[in-house]
Amino acid sequence: MIRLAEKRDASEIAAIYRPFCEESCVSFETEAPDAAEMASRIEKIRLRFPWLVCERDQRIAGYAYASAHRERAAYRWAVEVTVYIHADYRGQGVGTSLYAELFDLLREQGFFKAYAGILVPNPASQAFHEAMGFSPVGIYRKIGYKLGAWRDVGWWELALRPEIDSPAEPRPPAHAIESQP
Ligand SMILES: CC(C)(COP(=O)(O)OP(=O)(O)OC[C@H]1O[C@@H](n2cnc3c(N)ncnc32)[C@H](O)[C@@H]1OP(=O)(O)O)[C@@H](O)C(=O)NCCC(=O)NCCS
Repeated sequence: MIRLAEKRDASEIAAIYRPFCEESCVSFETEAPDAAEMASRIEKIRLRFPWLVCERDQRIAGYAYASAHRERAAYRWAVEVTVYIHADYRGQGVGTSLYAELFDLLREQGFFKAYAGILVPNPASQAFHEAMGFSPVGIYRKIGYKLGAWRDVGWWELALRPEIDSPAEPRPPAHAIESQP
């Protein structure tokens, strides 16, 4: 089941994310956020973008969310997307389902482009994003230093819809509208 993330999901989400901060370079964060910090990130993101979780066996099997790609005004139709799947649920279509739902919601909001920044090499993530229709844009070489070496980050892009002149302003996510008093 795919649904919007709630603050109560924060500790499971933080547990999925923790090894990527502490034991790998997949995330460039070096200190894993705790549940309280994750709850505050979920709350903040959800004002502007969808944050989705996939529930399986009453556990969080994975999550995906969008965030601003850059904050300058002309970038406002472009989002960055992030996805992490629990080790027990990888290779079972969870990432595909989360991204498909996320992109539907982003299209409804009026966004045009999605970008993914991926530590390279990360063959699983690169293949996954290309399977989802992303194309490679380019590589920031040796942009981060983590676990004793300089690391490259590649960028991939996906057109959520064809560009048009005079695009309408992106709308807040439907759940944000619903939760307004
Ligand atoms: C990368 C990741 C998000 C993929 O999610 P997933 O749920 O495991 O992927 P899916 O089962 O939906 O796979 C969809 C397609 O992606 C590709 N893919 C997924 N995992 C792959 C792997 N390990 N190796 C090669 N291709 C892979 C395949 O084309 C696959 O289609 P197929 O099953 O028909 O072969 C997930 O493995 C993950 O969280 N990895 C660790 C964290 C990470 O790297 N996150 C991305 C940060 S940028």
